[in-house]
Amino acid sequence: MNVFYAKHPDVLSRYAADRFIEQLNKNPKSILGLATGSTPKKMYAYLGEDTRAGKVSFSQARSYNLDEYVGLPGDHPASYRYFMQEHLFSQVDFREGTTFLPNGVAQDLEREALRYDNKIREEGEMDILILGIGSNGHIGFNEPNIFFEAMTHVAELDESTRKDNSRFFDKLEDVPTHAISMGMRVIMQSKIILLMAFGENKAQAIYDTIKGKIDPRVPASILQLHPNATILIDEGAASLLEEADYVRL
Ligand code: PGA
Repeated sequence: MNVFYAKHPDVLSRYAADRFIEQLNKNPKSILGLATGSTPKKMYAYLGEDTRAGKVSFSQARSYNLDEYVGLPGDHPASYRYFMQEHLFSQVDFREGTTFLPNGVAQDLEREALRYDNKIREEGEMDILILGIGSNGHIGFNEPNIFFEAMTHVAELDESTRKDNSRFFDKLEDVPTHAISMGMRVIMQSKIILLMAFGENKAQAIYDTIKGKIDPRVPASILQLHPNATILIDEGAASLLEEADYVRL
C-alpha cells in the first residue's frame, strides 16, 4: 500500500483527479469505479474543470458506483444517483447510458445486487476505483464484520454510518436503513484503488487500515493485500500516524 500525505485535502483531490486523467488518457475506454460522499467532491470538481479545459474526456468510458440507498429513487436529492449527476455526470462528457449505479428501488433487491455484480464482472474488472472510508472503516457500504469474499449485496447500515450520513437528511429517521453495496470481491479486483480520507474523524479508521491486522472488523484493512492501492490522507486523517508511516506529496 502506498500512503501519501498532504496537509490540505485539495492537494490529495488534485492527485486523485490526475490519476483518473492519466488512466483515461492512456485508455479512453476505461472502466471507472466511483464513490459518493463529502470526500470526492473536490476531485469531481477538478475533473469537471479539466473536461471543460479539454484535458480529459469521459466520452468512451463507463462508470460503476459503489452503492445506492435502498428506497430512494434516482431523482431523490439524497440518492447517490442524484449526487453523482450533480457533482460529476453533469460536469463531464459521459455518453448517455454509460454511468451505472445499483437500483435502490428495484422490486427484488437481492436480484438487483446480483445483476449489478454480474454486470461489473462482465466488464472484466474496473481499471481505477476511488474510495472514501467510513469512520468505522467501511468501504462502500461493506460495514464492519463483512465477509471479505462478499459479492454485491443488500447491506444493513451500521448505526454509526446512519448517524454520519444524517447530515444529508432532515433527521436521523429519514436515513435509509439499507443500501445495495458493491462487494469486497469486486472492489479488490479493481486494478488501481485510491482511497481518500480527510479529517480527524477518520484517523482511527486510517490507523487501523494501515497499521492494524487485516480484520473484517475494519473492512478497509483488506487493502493491505491489494497490489496497487494508494491511501491519500490529510493532516486530520493522519493524526494517529507517525511521519515514517507515509510519504509527503
Ligand atoms: P464521506 O463518506 O466522504 O462523506 O466522509 C465516506 C464513506 O462513508 O465511505
